[in-house]
Amino acid sequence: MYDRLVLRRPDDWHLHLRDGAMLAAVAPSSAAFGRAIIMPNLVPPVVTGAQARAYRDRIRTALPEGAALHPLMTLYLTEGSDPADILAAHAEGLIAAVKLYPAGATTNSDSGVRDFDRVRPVLEAMAGAGVPLLVHGEVTDPAVDIFDREAVFLDRVLDPIRRATPGLRVVLEHVTTRDGLDYVRAGGPDMGGTITAHHLVINRNHILAGGIRPHYYCLPVAKRETHRRALVEAATGGETCFFLGTDSAPHPDHAKESACGCAGCFTAPVTMPLLAAVFEAEGALDRLEGFASLHGPAFYRLPPNEDRIALVRRDVPFAAPSHIDAGGESVTVFDPGQPLYWHPEEAE
Ligand code: DOR
Ligand code: ZN
Repeated sequence: MYDRLVLRRPDDWHLHLRDGAMLAAVAPSSAAFGRAIIMPNLVPPVVTGAQARAYRDRIRTALPEGAALHPLMTLYLTEGSDPADILAAHAEGLIAAVKLYPAGATTNSDSGVRDFDRVRPVLEAMAGAGVPLLVHGEVTDPAVDIFDREAVFLDRVLDPIRRATPGLRVVLEHVTTRDGLDYVRAGGPDMGGTITAHHLVINRNHILAGGIRPHYYCLPVAKRETHRRALVEAATGGETCFFLGTDSAPHPDHAKESACGCAGCFTAPVTMPLLAAVFEAEGALDRLEGFASLHGPAFYRLPPNEDRIALVRRDVPFAAPSHIDAGGESVTVFDPGQPLYWHPEEAE
């Protein structure tokens, strides 16, 4: 049994840092990750290379002195996106990927894609240049049950896109179903999938049974227990196509505790202690480094981080704050529902 685990510094391949006072409040919670893929769904969205550069500068300013975090920027794909701007931003190392939101699928996705044929030239240019497409994989058809929207997206949208655009590198983000896992597994080396920490520990009962718990509501919404178990097996099983993308997505409490509450779980402060608990319960602590620190860089064709962190198992639980303050507004930290005994530390 381990009580101290040393691993390459982990990366977060899907993170919402927001802007302004929220950015200043949440950036320190992700500062110990090595790199993070920064989501572009600001208002207005980050569409051009110039906007990504300015946002990256605001993030660097918000990070505490000595932070490890290196933000990897993304552009928000719209039907008006300019392929030349995307390729130029990628060629100069300004962006690492492009994000596809189906219009209306989630928070700030109104500028996303309605007609997927209209982005085909952009996707072809991205395939040619090796720019990964990060996909929010849910259909928005109101006739499709919300618990089926990921599985239906694979057949109706993602598979046709991939067939029409050979060579396109794709990450299916925040996979929540066995269907999504199997799709990623079958996709070969140009296909990856991120898994969040929260989808490894909550199922739909956590949101709905015994009262509505808005801080467990996110998109894609957590599914039934069989899917959660499949996610745990995928994350802890050592499969290299799966890697950590927290989708840590802070909202002020008033926006979540509302008659129409926002989707998103603010997990960044508890990510590594929570992952360690999940991997420990599966007897898979030796695979945590692969999931959190190795498989992601391999997909993105980047070296793993050189430096290391330690996770130390202590008798006293890891004490994350229950809330943080963002410019006078309270933001609830994800409640893992169990005491967490693994404490992250900088390794010598
Ligand atoms: O739960 C979510 N929150 N899912 C998303 O796709 C977006 C995110 C956000 O930006 O709040
Ligand atoms: Zn997200």
